[in-house]
Amino acid sequence: MQPHVIVLGNEKGGSGKSTTAIHLAVFLLRAGHTVGVVDLDARQGTLTRHVGNRAAYAERHGLDLPVPAVRAVERSTVAVETQEFQAAIDDLSRDCAYIVIDTPGSDSPLSRLGHAAADTLVTPLNDSFVDLDMLATVDPDTLEILRPSQYADMVFEQRKARMARRRRPIDWVVLRNRLAHLDARNKRDMGAILDRLARRIGFRLAPGFGERVIFRELFLKGLTLLDLRDTDPEGGLTMSHVAARQEVRSLAEAIGLGLPAPALSGPVDTKRIAAE
Ligand SMILES: Nc1ncnc2c1ncn2[C@@H]1O[C@H](COP(=O)(O)OP(=O)(O)O)[C@@H](O)[C@H]1O
Ligand SMILES: [Mg+2]
Repeated sequence: MQPHVIVLGNEKGGSGKSTTAIHLAVFLLRAGHTVGVVDLDARQGTLTRHVGNRAAYAERHGLDLPVPAVRAVERSTVAVETQEFQAAIDDLSRDCAYIVIDTPGSDSPLSRLGHAAADTLVTPLNDSFVDLDMLATVDPDTLEILRPSQYADMVFEQRKARMARRRRPIDWVVLRNRLAHLDARNKRDMGAILDRLARRIGFRLAPGFGERVIFRELFLKGLTLLDLRDTDPEGGLTMSHVAARQEVRSLAEAIGLGLPAPALSGPVDTKRIAAE
């Protein structure tokens, strides 16, 4: 099978990569797809633990919860990492229509390997200028974009490498995460800069995730808000749960899951590619 590979990447810890990874994986499972996940941040192991907690919860409660196949690749020499990563992908590709890869919050050969495998790269970004710095340097007075960040350059390199290998181009989707209900001014400024940046470095902006307790409180049980009806059929869904569900669905739609991959709205800089 030729799976659709979705990579969660951002060179900053705590931006929501692992959270988004598990929510996308469970969304796809619940849509009836076979899903494998690869944890390249085995040191933190958030995704591996979330899946492990999930299997344990299902067993404890006799529930038939869909659980993704999981592989973790530990840090090692580049040769061993490359071999183990490829083995994990080959292994999961046998059965899985989708592979979701979680990466560490720092640049490393392992993180690059993950990015190079992406059909879709999803970059969650906390809605603050501190996190925006990971994509580009912005003039503090005018809010003009001065230059793309090292991370944006790294993504560009991986895109070029894929083109050279005649692979499908990476569709880069940026997701604003932990959007506050208040703070309209920050939201607006961030929105305006991200729109410009999307065109400049070639990503699409997905509708974001709000700051919601439900995105984090089910980790120990290995659940997500997409499982609530099965695990607590009597429990009512709050407005926040319903809104969170819609946010996950909107991300899946923005990625084009189950649909043909949408065209990039922000053009890849082909002139720059040609010049190199
Ligand atoms: N939308 C959200 N609402 C509330 N908490 C969130 C949200 N997204 C992430 N978190 C929390 O933020 C922290 C960092 O998220 P995580 O997914 O582990 O980031 P990363 O994998 O990028 O380091 C975790 O405690 C997580 O539960
Ligand atoms: Mg993580």
